[in-house]
Amino acid sequence: MTHPRVAILISGRGSNMTAILDAAAREDWPCTFALVLSNNADARGLITAAERGISTVVCDHRPYGRARRPEYDAELVRTLQEHAIDWIVLAGFMRILSPVFTRAFPRRILNIHPSLLPRFPGLRTHERALEAGVADHGCSVHLVDESLDGGPLLGQARVPVLPADTPESLAARVLVQEHILYPAVVRAVVSGDLPRLLSEPAGASLDQP
Ligand code: GAR
Repeated sequence: MTHPRVAILISGRGSNMTAILDAAAREDWPCTFALVLSNNADARGLITAAERGISTVVCDHRPYGRARRPEYDAELVRTLQEHAIDWIVLAGFMRILSPVFTRAFPRRILNIHPSLLPRFPGLRTHERALEAGVADHGCSVHLVDESLDGGPLLGQARVPVLPADTPESLAARVLVQEHILYPAVVRAVVSGDLPRLLSEPAGASLDQP
């Protein structure tokens, strides 16, 4: 059986992408990382991907603007289809996706979000967690559907919120967990374990202590 072809979509530094590529290389996952795509030509993660011999492509969203989001998304879909992509891994890809994109790859798009969903969808999650005074915080991996940060959960990792936390210290503690959780979930998915992840309560098998 041929290995599924995976694309990773990034907008910036790409530390989650790097964690996934490192784990895949170490553990010899049954998939091919066929493409790293960014909406931002200056994304640092593009350099990391190229250094590892992975094809990279930039699809700049700026010429489209908000009104033409579906046209931009159609360009993304075309690019991914040209590379025969089976799984799409959003790793800090900071674009809202329209149904043009999500309907082209139903149950084939994964995302990591820096909060314990359904708490704090959207932006500024660490600031909002501190403002809300929650005792714990974390990250979630989910399937992407047409809702904002709302598709079925595949795994979560939790960290305590400490009295002296700033948004930066909390983000750093969560990021350590992102780098453990996301590779574990992507590995499970490309290995054919999506039905099991969907049937278990989020984080049951992948929660970090
Ligand atoms: C990560 O913290 C990820 O959870 C977050 O962006 C960061 C990307 O960092 N994603 C979102 O906020 C998506 N809504 P990275 O480029 O170093 O992986």
